[in-house]
Amino acid sequence: MEILKFDEIDSTSKYLKNIISTENEKYKGNFPVIVAKSQTSGKGRRGNEWSSEEGGAYFSFTLKEDKNIDFNEYMKLPLVLGYSLMNTLERIEPSLKIDFKWTNDIYINDKKISGILVEKKENYFVIGIGINLNNKIKGNGIGKGISLSSITQKKYNIMEIIISVIENFKKDFDYYISGNWENILLKLNKKNYLYNKKIKISFGNEQEDGIAKYISKTGELVVEINNKERFFNIGEIHISK
Ligand code: BTN
Repeated sequence: MEILKFDEIDSTSKYLKNIISTENEKYKGNFPVIVAKSQTSGKGRRGNEWSSEEGGAYFSFTLKEDKNIDFNEYMKLPLVLGYSLMNTLERIEPSLKIDFKWTNDIYINDKKISGILVEKKENYFVIGIGINLNNKIKGNGIGKGISLSSITQKKYNIMEIIISVIENFKKDFDYYISGNWENILLKLNKKNYLYNKKIKISFGNEQEDGIAKYISKTGELVVEINNKERFFNIGEIHISK
C-alpha cells in the first residue's frame, strides 16, 4: 500500500477528500493512505474536534464503492470497521477488556481509545481513524479519552499498528460481504458497551431517557423507552450518558 506521511497536517481525512476531487488522474483511483504524526484540525463525528497530539495514530484511507454490492450493505460499514478495529486492538493487547460502543467507538476502562469517521467523497468512502496509542491525554474528566500506553506503560509502533488495522479491515470487509454479518453482529453484541446502560437519546426535536439494549440484525441500536423497544439508526440518534 502506498503511504503518504506528514509530520503535521490539518486533517488526514480532509487531505484525502481533497485529492479524490482534484488528483484522480494522478492516482487512477488508487489513493494513498494518509498518515500524520499530529493534526491541527482533527475532526470527529458530528463536527466534534479530535485531539491529535503526537504519539497517536491518525490516518485515512479509501474504500471504493463497488456497484455490485447493494448500497444498503454499506450502511453497516461503520459497524464492520468498529468490529475490525476492536479485533486488531485485542490482538495487540489480548489481556485488556476492550469494548465496542455503538456505532463505532472503541472503549477501554469506560474511556474512548479510538474513533472512526466515515465520509463519502464521489464513489469512495473516506475512512478516518484516530487511535490513542503513545499520546498523553490531559485531564481525567468524563468524556476524556484514554491512551493504550497509559494503561500498559508500553510504547507502540504506530506505523505497524496502522498497517495492520488497514490490512485486517480489508479482510474483515470481504468476510462481511461474503455473508458473515451474523458472526460479526454476535461479537459486537458480546462486546456491547452500551448494553443495559441508561442513555439520553435525541432524535429529531425530541429527547428521551432509555435503556440501551442490543444491536439489531439491521445494525440499529435497540433502546427500551417506557417498556417498549425502539430501534434507532445512527442518523436519528445522539447518545449522551
Ligand atoms: C469520532 O470518534 O468522532 C471520530 C474520530 C476520527 C478521528 C480521525 S483522526 C484521522 C482522521 N482525520 C480526521 O480529521 N479525523 C479522523
